[in-house]
Amino acid sequence: MPQQQPQHQAAGLLLLLFLLWNLFPEGEYQNQSLALSELASKRLERYQDALEVLNQTRWGDFRPRPDGVEANAAADDGSSYSYVNLTGFREQDGFAWDDLELFREKGLRLSRHAIPPVGGKQLWDAAQGEPVWANASGTLHGDWVRRPGSSPRTYDSYNLSRSVPGMDWVGDRADWARNITGESGRMMLRLEGNRTVQKYDEVAEGSNPLSGGMIRHVRGYATIEDTMGSGLNWEMRLWGLQWPRQGVVLMTTTSEKFEGIFGLPHLAPSADFFQSAQMMLKRKLARVVRRKRRNLYVDQNMPWNSDVDNAMYTAFPSPHCEFVLYGQVHPPLQQDAGVDAEHAEDVIRAIESELQKPLGAPIHSVSKLQMSTVIYSPDCGFFLESKGPPDFPPGDSDHLVGMKTEVHTHQVKTWMLVYALVVFAQVGLLKDQMQESFTPSTMGRVSFWTVSAMVIVDGMTFTAAATWVSSAMATFLPTLALMFASFLSMTIGGSFLAKIHEVQLPERNRRRDQQRQTSSGTSTETTSSAPSAPLTPNPTGALLPAPVTAPRSTRLPPDQGPIIIPSDQDISAEIAAAASAVPRPNMVSNTTTTPPPAPHRPAQTFQAIIGRFILFSLFVSFLAISSVTWYSRPRALLLNACALAYFSLWLPQICRNTLRNCRRALSWRFVLGQSALRLLPFAYFWVKHDNFLYARTDRRAFALLCAWVWLQICLLAAQDVLGPRFGIPAGWAPDAWDYHPVLREDNVEAGGLPIGLVADDAAVARSPTTEKRGSVSGGAGPAGGTRAIDCAICREVLEVPVLSAGEEEGRVANVFARRLYMVTPCRHIFHTACLEGWMRFRLQCPICREELPPI
Ligand SMILES: *[C@@H]1O[C@H](CO)[C@@H](O)[C@H](O)[C@H]1NC(C)=O
Ligand SMILES: *[C@@H]1O[C@H](CO)[C@@H](O)[C@H](O)[C@H]1NC(C)=O
Ligand SMILES: *[C@@H]1O[C@H](CO)[C@@H](O)[C@H](O)[C@H]1NC(C)=O
Ligand SMILES: *[C@@H]1O[C@H](CO)[C@@H](O)[C@H](O)[C@H]1NC(C)=O
Ligand SMILES: *[C@@H]1O[C@H](CO)[C@@H](O)[C@H](O)[C@H]1NC(C)=O
Ligand SMILES: *[C@@H]1O[C@H](CO)[C@@H](O)[C@H](O)[C@H]1NC(C)=O
Ligand SMILES: *[C@@H]1O[C@H](CO)[C@@H](O)[C@H](O)[C@H]1NC(C)=O
Ligand SMILES: [Zn+2]
Ligand SMILES: [Zn+2]
Repeated sequence: MPQQQPQHQAAGLLLLLFLLWNLFPEGEYQNQSLALSELASKRLERYQDALEVLNQTRWGDFRPRPDGVEANAAADDGSSYSYVNLTGFREQDGFAWDDLELFREKGLRLSRHAIPPVGGKQLWDAAQGEPVWANASGTLHGDWVRRPGSSPRTYDSYNLSRSVPGMDWVGDRADWARNITGESGRMMLRLEGNRTVQKYDEVAEGSNPLSGGMIRHVRGYATIEDTMGSGLNWEMRLWGLQWPRQGVVLMTTTSEKFEGIFGLPHLAPSADFFQSAQMMLKRKLARVVRRKRRNLYVDQNMPWNSDVDNAMYTAFPSPHCEFVLYGQVHPPLQQDAGVDAEHAEDVIRAIESELQKPLGAPIHSVSKLQMSTVIYSPDCGFFLESKGPPDFPPGDSDHLVGMKTEVHTHQVKTWMLVYALVVFAQVGLLKDQMQESFTPSTMGRVSFWTVSAMVIVDGMTFTAAATWVSSAMATFLPTLALMFASFLSMTIGGSFLAKIHEVQLPERNRRRDQQRQTSSGTSTETTSSAPSAPLTPNPTGALLPAPVTAPRSTRLPPDQGPIIIPSDQDISAEIAAAASAVPRPNMVSNTTTTPPPAPHRPAQTFQAIIGRFILFSLFVSFLAISSVTWYSRPRALLLNACALAYFSLWLPQICRNTLRNCRRALSWRFVLGQSALRLLPFAYFWVKHDNFLYARTDRRAFALLCAWVWLQICLLAAQDVLGPRFGIPAGWAPDAWDYHPVLREDNVEAGGLPIGLVADDAAVARSPTTEKRGSVSGGAGPAGGTRAIDCAICREVLEVPVLSAGEEEGRVANVFARRLYMVTPCRHIFHTACLEGWMRFRLQCPICREELPPI
């Protein structure tokens, strides 16, 4: 204990500190929140002003100076351009607004391509084109390509302390965050539409019906992978509007230097969109600002903040590139020629309402959600366009493709349930295996680390499910099932592990003792001669009351063993006796070596090991969670390395088989079943392309994993068939009794043939006849042959091949013939099946009751 405990306390303390540090990110919490609310009220005042501007501006008030027009040309023609008084939209902010027209054109081009004209009429403009999903909530994935803007910008183009006074900008003199520099990459976009659609019928100056007459709020969460450029994944939140009839989505980021959401209507493609957007935002933003002002001291999150990592108000913002996103949802039924245009709308509405409130109407397959998009960065001066037609051939890449939220949820539920079933099946296998190896002898064969790997992973699954279950709304039941299954697997596996640990503890003590003894120079007895007898690890066993300490020492640290003896004797006298008894052998055996051997280190308790496992899995979990922000290559490397480490789980078993000279510890059902079941979840994410996490697949890595597991299983099979030490040079592995020796007549050094087989022992009744029969049928050689003896366990005849003097061994058939009998160290011979069955219960020779080495 004295060495173990401080380590543990230190680790626990570190963990506690880590948690505390996470809970209280700022030291002066009180002061901070006071300063924050001050900051918030200033910010909200600005937003109130911006709201005023939004209320009062009209379509056409924001006409930034186009590229090429000189600044002083304005003096002649004041009406040619104008700005609005919103941060980022003002002239002095110097944004690259000259590309705004280009942005609108790109957007309209995508829309008109997605909903093509019929008979030369642009139905999209009149909101009469093909219907699209009205509810664009879902997750989309696709490739983007970068297009430079017409006037490039660097951070030097801006003086942020002038355009946004009162802020201490951090890092505005270096490359800004979200500055996409790569040529292309992948992006993920998650859209969440508001449940309610607003209808409006006011008509603008024109006569057209206003952009479909419907509008709703929409929130987006985008991840842009810039693998070729900065190598980072940029995440951001966007807020905006959706016009469901036309399928247009317009969203923007908002920050201290860009009041995007207030200027959003000015970025819309046409006056119709402006009218509806202004009407909608005016009400909505006013409501939000009012609510934020009410909750000034409670709610520290800045409204419409685009920065995912720092959602709170701050006086020290760091600049990010701003984005405006225009998206066009594609008609879902474009491919289905069977549906004519009039019915298409009804069909889509029917599917959507069924998805939202399932009534059992038959919908076979829900088409994918597809969207083309163009993203414009007005301050960093570039465009990101989703890759697809018309600029790229259709088969190559099809803009952003994904699933509607309901479909996605359904998938998650289904696969979670499947995973829960897989874990249940694992529990079944584990239970069978535990029934099979319930004796100390059979449990002694099972590798502690193989079972540990399973328990650790099940424990991590349980932790993940238990964490998720509180926030899993639609997936609550499947998560609960998964949690239950992994809990079962974890606890049953844990109890198995505890038993294995208890059984293998004496063995570990012995091994450590031997190491100590060999290092201190004293000679040791070999393993085979005293395999499991000395449960008391110190050589004082003879001096101590053996029957009392022996069973006790499996649980207690051995030094304390002799002290806590419940007896009616005088305790203090006993302690004195024990104290005098313990050091004596040390003094005797170490008369030459001056430093006494290291104090007796007790074996780790099971609790200590479990504690270590928990720390380890916490560490791995933190690593995996933090790897979300890493570059994608090291992250894939980490995940693959973890998977590889996990799927090396049979390796400890192979080593243990070799060390203990044991052919098979676990049933084949267990090995094959666990391998397959544990590979299945990995198969889903590593192979299935549209998995629900949208994780990048890696078939090559998965094939390698499978090959690796297969190789280990082959090794286990080879150990079972050819013997656990095949291919390992003699002398590498510690000595162990070979239960299947080659029997030869001249075998002197091994103590001769087993009792009953010795040549002059041939008085065995049936031997002449059987020997003749054996030599005829077996044909083992001119001089050798098979001999017969009665197996003492089953009383049946046991025929064994015996090589005569000088005969060569090495026939393959002999390898299998040797598997049929087992010879004990006390030179008794039995059927393999009989003795193995016997040894499941006791490690004693059935005839002479001598100790047997475990197999
Ligand atoms: C609280 O913060 C303000 C600045 O925001 C500072 O002037 C003041 O000294 C701080 N008070 C304490 C107690 O730290
Ligand atoms: C917008 O302006 C009108 C007058 O032009 C005013 O009546 C209305 O209250 C304003 N709305 C908001 C939200 O400020
Ligand atoms: C712009 O708005 C600010 C308040 O947000 C105001 O102080 C300033 O005078 C306005 N500028 C112009 C030109 O109207
Ligand atoms: C964005 O990256 C480019 C290329 O590295 C650089 O020239 C430019 O200054 C960066 N822009 C900003 C705003 O940091
Ligand atoms: C930015 O503007 C501030 C205030 O107008 C001025 O003091 C500062 O010199 C400017 N910085 C640069 C780099 O131009
Ligand atoms: C959806 O919009 C309605 C009306 O505009 C509003 O009351 C509601 O709070 C919004 N819901 C969400 C989740 O934003
Ligand atoms: C759109 O889908 C989301 C996600 O299922 C749902 O919460 C929302 O109510 C739907 N809105 C409409 C108008 O159908
Ligand atoms: Zn038998
Ligand atoms: Zn015996």
